[in-house]
Amino acid sequence: MLSTKNIISIDDLSIDDINLIMENADSFYEVLGREFKKVPTLRGKTIINLFFESSTRTRTSFEIAAKRLSADMINFSASTSSLKKGESIIDTLKTIQSMMIDLLIMRHSDSGVMNFIAGNIDVPLINAGDGKHQHPTQALLDLYTIKKSFKDFKGLKVAIAGDILNSRVARSDIKLFKRMGMDVTIVSAPMLLPENLEYFDSNYVYDIDKIIEDIDILYMLRMQFERQDRKYYPSIKEYNRFLSLNMERLKKMKRGSLIMHAGPVIRGIEISENVMNYAENYSGFKINTQVTNGVAVRMALIYLMLGST
Ligand code: CP
Repeated sequence: MLSTKNIISIDDLSIDDINLIMENADSFYEVLGREFKKVPTLRGKTIINLFFESSTRTRTSFEIAAKRLSADMINFSASTSSLKKGESIIDTLKTIQSMMIDLLIMRHSDSGVMNFIAGNIDVPLINAGDGKHQHPTQALLDLYTIKKSFKDFKGLKVAIAGDILNSRVARSDIKLFKRMGMDVTIVSAPMLLPENLEYFDSNYVYDIDKIIEDIDILYMLRMQFERQDRKYYPSIKEYNRFLSLNMERLKKMKRGSLIMHAGPVIRGIEISENVMNYAENYSGFKINTQVTNGVAVRMALIYLMLGST
């Protein structure tokens, strides 16, 4: 059982919670390798996926995780709901809650909206990404992916590169990685950084070449154009010069180092087309592995929230 009812921020989880999720993810990862990939654990439980913002990985991953645990999973469509008739989000959620559901999984483009919602409903809530604020389950699956490649988190050198300003992944990952003892360096340009950079309590460089030979993990961030109200970088050419992963930089990386990305990747911006094509046969390239691990980690999380008592 976890120490928290809602998972809105990665800070809601204690170190014991995180270790418990990692241990349980191992068991569920084993289930995913079976021919019959399903356990009866959450039979009779009902989970609602409410995605007010687009998603490929997170929404599908939660749906598969719930179904593999035998829970009933309902995908709520905001675009065809009574929200369109003027119903407020709280009234919509109270309506859904009245149907005796057990868990809400929600994504929304407004940063911080989950705290507002959690204060108005009784049912447990998992934040599947809110604006620039937090994406805690991404951080957990990223940690699990790192755990499967290294003996210990302590002292691992991680560089997180790109659009930090608009990234909920960066906000969750940096917090979690530092709590687990990793040494985090932010690689970005001043235009792509928040004013309160000290919040991250991390090293900072503007040029990826300054760290590329020394790191254990390179975590690339997508340019989040949908959250940018203006042009934040002079040109893609300059972005490629200072911040992108190309073949030349890939060759300089340490043996055994990992390349990670939450997805979706915009080929030609944060990672070159050549690296993306080459990486399909490169064991250190973890983007698809992160997606696979996401199902096991989300199974573990849902199980610990609903089924372990
Ligand atoms: N990593 C992630 O959140 O991807 P989606 O936007 O496809 O869910």
